[in-house]
Amino acid sequence: MVPSRNSSDKLIALLQLAYSGERAAAYAYRGHWQSVSDEHERDSIRGIEEDEWRHRQLVGEMLAGLGAEPNRRREVRATIIGRTLGLLCHVTGWLMPMYGAGKLESRNVKEYETAARLARDCGCVNLIDCLIEMAEVEWDHEKYFRSCVLSHRLGRRLSLWPQPPPRESIRSSYESESGGSLQDKSRNLCERATTGG
Ligand SMILES: [Fe+2]
Ligand SMILES: [Fe+2]
Repeated sequence: MVPSRNSSDKLIALLQLAYSGERAAAYAYRGHWQSVSDEHERDSIRGIEEDEWRHRQLVGEMLAGLGAEPNRRREVRATIIGRTLGLLCHVTGWLMPMYGAGKLESRNVKEYETAARLARDCGCVNLIDCLIEMAEVEWDHEKYFRSCVLSHRLGRRLSLWPQPPPRESIRSSYESESGGSLQDKSRNLCERATTGG
């Protein structure tokens, strides 16, 4: 396939969105875990905050590799939104932040799946596996917050956001669309980044 300039522009725009979105999410989760009293919930949400910072680092490296920079306006907005949501967690009660987080995470799954396809279309095959892996981690986050909402008497009565397809389908749908195994085509940037290679 001929690498598409249009796909590359779209990929950069989506990565800029994701980069700032990760900052907003990480700040919001920092406030979220500090607002809950259950020790297991604190640990789980703190772990999710760490995942989001790791994602942000990886997406930042992808942007740099593409010769692009974060969008400054989005960065400022993300800080304000993330900090505000983090503070609100202390006053809105337990259920609302869990619900909001689950809904947001379901969008994040799709965002990284779309980014993986754009990376394929513009010939950035080294990014694909990492983007798929991040979609899988967002899937885990969605599952966690969904289970929290459903553990709540009132939460069970709420209409939830659509449930994402099974986790395996993130990888398998990409592979069947693209005609091959991911590991054959892409070097794992996530691994290289986390090992400092
Ligand atoms: Fe993330
Ligand atoms: Fe997430």
